[in-house]
Amino acid sequence: MTIGYGEAGGKIILMGEHSVVYGKPAIALPFSKAQTQCYVDFIKGDTTIDCFYYQGPLHKAPLLLKGVVALVNATLTYLNQEHDGLFIRIESSLPPQRGLGSSAAVSVAIVRALFDAFKTPLTHEILSELVHVSESIHHTNPSGLDASTIASEQVVFFEKGKEKQFISMKIDGYLVVADTGRHGQTKQAVSEVRTMWIENPEHVNPILDRLGELTIEASMFLRSNKVEELGVCMSEAHSLLRSINVSDDALEHLVKVAMESRALGAKLTGGGKGGCMIALCANLEDAIVVAENLKQAGASNTWFYNLSEVISK
Ligand code: MEV
Repeated sequence: MTIGYGEAGGKIILMGEHSVVYGKPAIALPFSKAQTQCYVDFIKGDTTIDCFYYQGPLHKAPLLLKGVVALVNATLTYLNQEHDGLFIRIESSLPPQRGLGSSAAVSVAIVRALFDAFKTPLTHEILSELVHVSESIHHTNPSGLDASTIASEQVVFFEKGKEKQFISMKIDGYLVVADTGRHGQTKQAVSEVRTMWIENPEHVNPILDRLGELTIEASMFLRSNKVEELGVCMSEAHSLLRSINVSDDALEHLVKVAMESRALGAKLTGGGKGGCMIALCANLEDAIVVAENLKQAGASNTWFYNLSEVISK
């Protein structure tokens, strides 16, 4: 019998990935087309994890699950509970390592399920604090953008270290989200950008500054139904991200195909070096054509995202 349940969706970074790590603003949208669920039961003996990668005792989990192990332990310590006697099952339709926030979604679902199991109310602050434990292990010094968006389930205008803001969007348009089918390399991409920034700040700083400016422009276009202008911002952001080497051949190919089709703008989303891209379209009809072309060009999956239906509080 399930005694605790938690769920979480993913996120799509519309603008500002990577530059957000350097204090520039970013905009991310909640992505509910795919979900992660966590179920908790009481059992006798060791706390056990059951997920796609591993089934067995928590303390013997492979290195890949180091973040999850740390998170479960930190959450149980916070809840003042024994660390054994739980069966934790995780199911997810969010593809892992594609820049859609699957690791943060798993973390949010686990914390929600454990708090539910021990009938303890969970605040946003505690959720963010706990999720930071696993995200720091997965990503090394994460900006907090993924966890913030996934936990709040709202359109977030995020600046590291500042109170997050929510954007009330007023825009008609569709995003096509397309998966290259290749694992993204967020940790590696973040670390390579850092090396480039340390070695060549004169080159990298103006790029990061411009990415920040584009995010601010995009936030205005989202509020004023300027879909074409938003598309131009997205495409410029993609060129800048390419110039700091976080794109790859598969992403470049899909971005090109989208732009040669009916997209108003296209870019990678998330950490890059694999993972997903997004293409902005004026309407559903164009989005269907773009998605079809992306699939024919090798996308392993596509999703539609109606921007006019996103809940903004
Ligand atoms: C990863 O989803 C987004 C990055 O900006 C890293 C971060 O914000 O920590 C690449």
